[in-house]
Amino acid sequence: MSAHKPKSSTEVVAHLRNASLVTPSVAIVLGSGVNVLENLDDEKSYPFQEVFGVSPSVAGHSGSVTIGKVDGKVVAVMRGRFHFYEGHDWETVTLPARAMVEWGVPTLILTNAAGGINTEFRVGDLMHITCYRDHLNPKLSETGLMPAVSQPSQEHKSTISSKLQQIGEELASKNGKFRQMRKGTYAGLLGPTYETIAEIKMLRKLNCDAVGMSTVPELQTVKGTKTEAAAVSVITNVWTDDVVLEGHEEVLRAAKEASERLDLLLRTAIAS
Ligand code: HPA
Repeated sequence: MSAHKPKSSTEVVAHLRNASLVTPSVAIVLGSGVNVLENLDDEKSYPFQEVFGVSPSVAGHSGSVTIGKVDGKVVAVMRGRFHFYEGHDWETVTLPARAMVEWGVPTLILTNAAGGINTEFRVGDLMHITCYRDHLNPKLSETGLMPAVSQPSQEHKSTISSKLQQIGEELASKNGKFRQMRKGTYAGLLGPTYETIAEIKMLRKLNCDAVGMSTVPELQTVKGTKTEAAAVSVITNVWTDDVVLEGHEEVLRAAKEASERLDLLLRTAIAS
């Protein structure tokens, strides 16, 4: 974890307003190795350290905020995010999402790299998150996991979420290369190690389709605010019985292959 102190959301917004006179129509958070929305028109980039007062420490996350245009619309792209497993607290993990709400950004699209729990999934699939489970909340360190396990999954619905799903369906019907998107339940776990076989079995019993270590805090943060969120997982590995995991490099390689489809999905969503 960086020794630097995170800024308040108000300080972050003051910095961003200075960087862009126009409030972006869409903000996007890019997870592990998800390298999309490159070379935006009129783009300017700022390191996380400068914007948020802290920087992430995971390979595959460069930690920068890029403000630029897609189809004439101003967008803010956050490459990387803060995770609990890096030692960051709730305030820091949710700082980028809180800043987007305070800046008045109407739409936040969250992306992540995730493991497929649903065995019908294939590496490189994109999954639209329609439900999520919070197994990473810091309060669970006092209670253990049981309160989280006994909770039902939380539904995630929004106008932008439905729009993204519709765009995914249209792209798949028009373009043979665009694999049909999946939809399902994302479980957010603390990490940083991948799941044990027992955890995978538990997640399957809880009807989860994908597992990762992020996104849930951001979805919870924007819930009930004027910022609407949608979330998409890039399935970088699938938990089948004969799974062979190669570690973070495998995650980065698979994420790259799905990037073209995600790039098209996001650019189409921003432009529409
Ligand atoms: N588990 C947790 N996080 C992940 C995975 C996984 O299998 N794949 C990519 N991120």
